Amino acid sequence: MFTRGFSTAFLLFALTASANAAPPTDGTPYIDRSGSLPHVMVDGKPFLMLGGELRNSSTSSFDYMKPIWPRMAAAKFNTLLAVTTWEQIEPQEGKFDFSYVDAAIAGAQQSGLHLVFLWFGSWKNGVSSYPPIWVKSDVKRFPRVQDEHGANLETLSAFSNANRDADAKAYAALMKHIHQVDSKHTVLMMQVENESGVLGPARDHSAEAAAAWQKPVPDALMAFLTKNKAQLQPEFLDVWARTGYKTRGTWAEVFGDSQRAEEIFEAWQYSQYIDAVAAAGKAEYAIPMYVNAWLTQYTGEPGGDHPSGGAVSRVLDVWLAGVSHIDVLAPDIYLMDLRGVLASYDHLGNPLFIPETRSGAAGGANALYAFGQGVMGFSPFAVDQAAETDNGPLAASYRVLDQLTPLLTAIDKSKMASVVRQQGETKAVVELGGYLLRIQYEGGGGRGGGAAAVAAATESAAAALIINTAPDEFIIAGEGVTVSFTPNSKGPKQAALMEVDEGTFNKGTWVPGRWLNGDETSGGLSLNFRGSTPTLQKVKLYRHD
Ligand code: DGJ
Repeated sequence: MFTRGFSTAFLLFALTASANAAPPTDGTPYIDRSGSLPHVMVDGKPFLMLGGELRNSSTSSFDYMKPIWPRMAAAKFNTLLAVTTWEQIEPQEGKFDFSYVDAAIAGAQQSGLHLVFLWFGSWKNGVSSYPPIWVKSDVKRFPRVQDEHGANLETLSAFSNANRDADAKAYAALMKHIHQVDSKHTVLMMQVENESGVLGPARDHSAEAAAAWQKPVPDALMAFLTKNKAQLQPEFLDVWARTGYKTRGTWAEVFGDSQRAEEIFEAWQYSQYIDAVAAAGKAEYAIPMYVNAWLTQYTGEPGGDHPSGGAVSRVLDVWLAGVSHIDVLAPDIYLMDLRGVLASYDHLGNPLFIPETRSGAAGGANALYAFGQGVMGFSPFAVDQAAETDNGPLAASYRVLDQLTPLLTAIDKSKMASVVRQQGETKAVVELGGYLLRIQYEGGGGRGGGAAAVAAATESAAAALIINTAPDEFIIAGEGVTVSFTPNSKGPKQAALMEVDEGTFNKGTWVPGRWLNGDETSGGLSLNFRGSTPTLQKVKLYRHD
């Protein structure tokens, strides 16, 4: 279905090329998946995106952006997520204007920043406000999603090949242009569309969509689901279980006649459309490409609570089955359960990346946690509005993470852990390097405990990123935590602090500052990271009976 009207030969070529592609040797960005954690590589080196997303309309004005580029660099961002829009680059069909793209690349370069470009093409937040007017005004040529009553919505239909091919053409032109002008590899990655899916009904009811709903579920999807059945997301399996895991039939026969089945149907269709757009772009310039998702919120009703068909965790498997030119499926995390969301996207080899999230104190602590879980990048939203400064909590975390980058991009995943306080929590326990690390959040527990401690715990951010650098040795970046150690491996039963250094990393080399003891280690009991500014400590432990 999805290759109809699009050059099948071209798609086959693109699929084969992407499956067999050797890593580029000219410094072009790519994702290295050879180690225990995937990393974005640029100019041959791994790079952690200490990012921030600009507001939707910021890059549409050169003058508006002029003071912002240097301000963002001063606030310790190394990467900005910036918008490119279909209406701006192709105001008339086939006539392209890349001046805004060029200005963004130049602005970022002048301030030593990298970019991730967001392609606001067919969809942005479940509607189609960014296609050019020659697309939006011609609803016959470029069909819309229709509701149950046949009314056209402000959303392009994912079942239209004309929509897909026009978007793919524009996106390919954009990628060709970036390839031509960005010899310095300022642009690291592309986001294809933005929080796609249908808002309103759970599925499109246009004639094309209605016909597709009656067709058999494609073999490619069924083959993926059957092969990976033991590992599929539990929420997806719940739906499939309702029909006894049927493997043949129409969408309603295989997944049940429900809104959840309609969401699965839309997820497949959006994955096909967006993968075709990405394929057209990668044929011009094959840098990493990802899709971001507006997550399920409270009711979970597809179309009402979140756009139906977007890459939410419960249809992640459908997306994984459907794409071969999208490298990452990424959650926009505004929910409080950062840990749960991140864990649900750490699925079947999907690299972790957080393209949108909250900033402020929570953002600073969450960044420490996220990089400890191996994200390739982290990017709070609206950083040009949020008055991010060199003194802010996010900058404080990014300063530490920047120092840790050589270590974080070289260390095996099994040697790394992280914690972050979520609502009401007072402590955490981590198992790493033969020790149990007991982490107490500042203001939580200890003397008093109870309701007061819980109240305090909900107020202040606390997090730790822990790296086991050698036997009995740890580097920890922490804020608002104390950390104590108990052995949980063979050998003497007690652990104590041998040497604790506060310090910094300079180009990957540890530079010790104060030697901490006495009050600063609570008399040798714990590492103390007081307050909300993260610092680095290196500890060596010894053991005795
Ligand atoms: C999510 C969208 O992806 C962003 O572009 C932005 O509109 C934010 N929501 C606003 O909170």
